[in-house]
Amino acid sequence: MSLYEKPDHWSIKAKKEGYPARSVYKLQEMDEKFGLFSCSSQGVAKSGFFKVLDLGAAPGSWSLYALRQWGQRIFILGVDPSPLSQNYDAGFFGGDHYGFLQGDMTTGEIRDAILAQGPFHLVMSDAAPGTTGNPGIDTLRSLALAEAALEYADQTLLQGGNFVVKVFQGGDSPRLLQGIRERFKTGRSFKPAACRRTSFETYYLGLDKKQSLPVPFPP
Ligand SMILES: C[S@@+](CC[C@H](N)C(=O)[O-])C[C@H]1O[C@@H](n2cnc3c(N)ncnc32)[C@H](O)[C@@H]1O
Repeated sequence: MSLYEKPDHWSIKAKKEGYPARSVYKLQEMDEKFGLFSCSSQGVAKSGFFKVLDLGAAPGSWSLYALRQWGQRIFILGVDPSPLSQNYDAGFFGGDHYGFLQGDMTTGEIRDAILAQGPFHLVMSDAAPGTTGNPGIDTLRSLALAEAALEYADQTLLQGGNFVVKVFQGGDSPRLLQGIRERFKTGRSFKPAACRRTSFETYYLGLDKKQSLPVPFPP
């Protein structure tokens, strides 16, 4: 087992607390700090649910965190080419408050299915490419996923809603942050404590979306 794979404090804690991945603590810290699961629009009252799009959802820790926190008041649509882990979900993933699209979020088929289920109050993306070890390639691929997530925020996020996206730092990532700042009242980067020290990942947050829907989806 390499040093990178060695279970650390966060992995052990996740197992104890019934989450399939340590990444849950990244979301928890950002939620506690920035109040991600709140939205200044009236959409919640209208739809009855706080609706979340979870891109790169597998194995399912972020979705489980939200379901456990907000239970009956939330609906989450998860998207990932990989399946969710059923080991810890206690039936949540098969329930009325969860939907899952198994596929690549950059394809037309998945895009249409996502658009059909919007709008959302929160768009969150922890999607990450399989890494090659070449920082140039990995950063480029991560940025492509992060840009796709921002396009979903353009198209499906309600005014007042929040956005969080993982990005591997480098290359054109400052341009993405600039794009977030144009669309949200607050745009900033944040590296949660649970990110591995050796990782060059960080998160960009857009809080309180300025513009109301719809914004044309890029061709
Ligand atoms: C770090 S994991 C996400 C962990 C998840 N947030 C959790 O808490 O369980 C990154 C995920 O991004 C997914 N992913 C990579 N490319 C994707 C794509 N094109 N569309 C959707 N998901 C993708 C991977 O399959 C992987 O499951």
